[in-house]
Amino acid sequence: LNVNLVGLVEVTLSLLPLVRRARGRVVNVASVLGRLSLFGGGYCPSKYGVEAFSDSLRRELRDFGVRVSIIEPGCFRTPLVESEAARASIACAWSRCSDEVRQAYGHRYFSTYNNNFLRLLSTANSNLSLVTSAMEHALTAEHPRTRYTCGLDAKLYYIPLSYMPSSWTDRLLHSSDLKPSGST
Ligand SMILES: *[C@@H]1O[C@H](CO)[C@@H](O)[C@H](O)[C@H]1NC(C)=O
Repeated sequence: LNVNLVGLVEVTLSLLPLVRRARGRVVNVASVLGRLSLFGGGYCPSKYGVEAFSDSLRRELRDFGVRVSIIEPGCFRTPLVESEAARASIACAWSRCSDEVRQAYGHRYFSTYNNNFLRLLSTANSNLSLVTSAMEHALTAEHPRTRYTCGLDAKLYYIPLSYMPSSWTDRLLHSSDLKPSGST
């Protein structure tokens, strides 16, 4: 939250006087996970925050001639996704859980969740040009778009899923093999 959201807000606000004077542009990198909350932890709330901040900023700066664009990449093979820290993040969270939590969920829940997460990371798209060309368009095109959704996973799955009624989204995202040991 500090890096992804508070950092982005502070950098943007500190440069805003210059951007306003130059009638410049703001291009913020959120994520499809700023439109659909796929897992727990700080990442999705931080990206929802980037979306909220950018949406209000865009409306506010419109009359100054400043355009604000939001980049929403799907899963891409970045150093974050490739990192050992990302691959170990679920195991790391599990190791910090109290005995009460570990008993309630059970080890099978953890290993299924961890496998699902690793499978998600393994789908990462390696063509980062899809993202950088969106950034380039947002910065240089005469008519930059408000939102750039990058990658087929985002365009065909995550964003459509985010528009569905919540009860449908919940059912589609519910994994039947993910059952806490304490559930009936
Ligand atoms: C990567 O994406 C760009 C479009 O941004 C496309 O021109 C290029 O052909 C793609 N490369 C591969 C290997 O698919």
